[in-house]
Amino acid sequence: MNLITIDGPAGSGKGTIAKQLSQELKLNYLDSGAIYRILGFHLKENNIPIENDALVKEDIQKAKIQFIEDIIFLNDRDVTDAIRTESIAKIASLIAANKSVRESILDLQRSFLKKPGLVAEGRDMGTVVFPEAKYKFFLTATVEERASRRYKQLISKGFDVSIADLVVEIQERDFRDTNRTISPLVPAANAVIIDTTELSPSQVIEFILGDI
Ligand code: C5P
Repeated sequence: MNLITIDGPAGSGKGTIAKQLSQELKLNYLDSGAIYRILGFHLKENNIPIENDALVKEDIQKAKIQFIEDIIFLNDRDVTDAIRTESIAKIASLIAANKSVRESILDLQRSFLKKPGLVAEGRDMGTVVFPEAKYKFFLTATVEERASRRYKQLISKGFDVSIADLVVEIQERDFRDTNRTISPLVPAANAVIIDTTELSPSQVIEFILGDI
């Protein structure tokens, strides 16, 4: 089955690229970061302290997660936009370092691999979730460029943010994601690394299509 993984840090363009690629190639699409965000959102709403392992484990079992076309549902509620804030991203990255959280969503992530294939994006798609993937890409870009992309996305959704804050928040998140012991943000040994700082989404897609 066709399986393409796209990993990289926040704002590296992997969301835009993976989604467009899945549409062009008519493959399924997995936004694994959204799952961590949904769980973060769920824990926050239920006032669960993220350092309390037992409570976190118990609470995330109560989260019913559904992706229906472009809408993301948590317990039948549309949370598509609500999970996009940097404050939810921060909780997502804190709980993403928790082994039982990561293990609890492995099957859900792997269930997206269905005919005719999948484009999966995140931090550990090529290393842990789909190590068997034939095509693996790892996108990077300078932190300034990534913050500026995030800024445009968030402003377009009506969130009030500043680029300076985003630079700091993204750097903190990158540091946490890169330095955790379980499934750290790291390119798979056989991943093609693409610096997207100076590239448009269509140039990145063209490059990937030329490589697969
Ligand atoms: O990709 P996105 O910014 O939505 O991811 C939010 C957070 O979820 C990341 O900062 C990371 O901590 C976590 N994540 C992860 N593994 C993935 C995808 C996301 O740890 N495969």
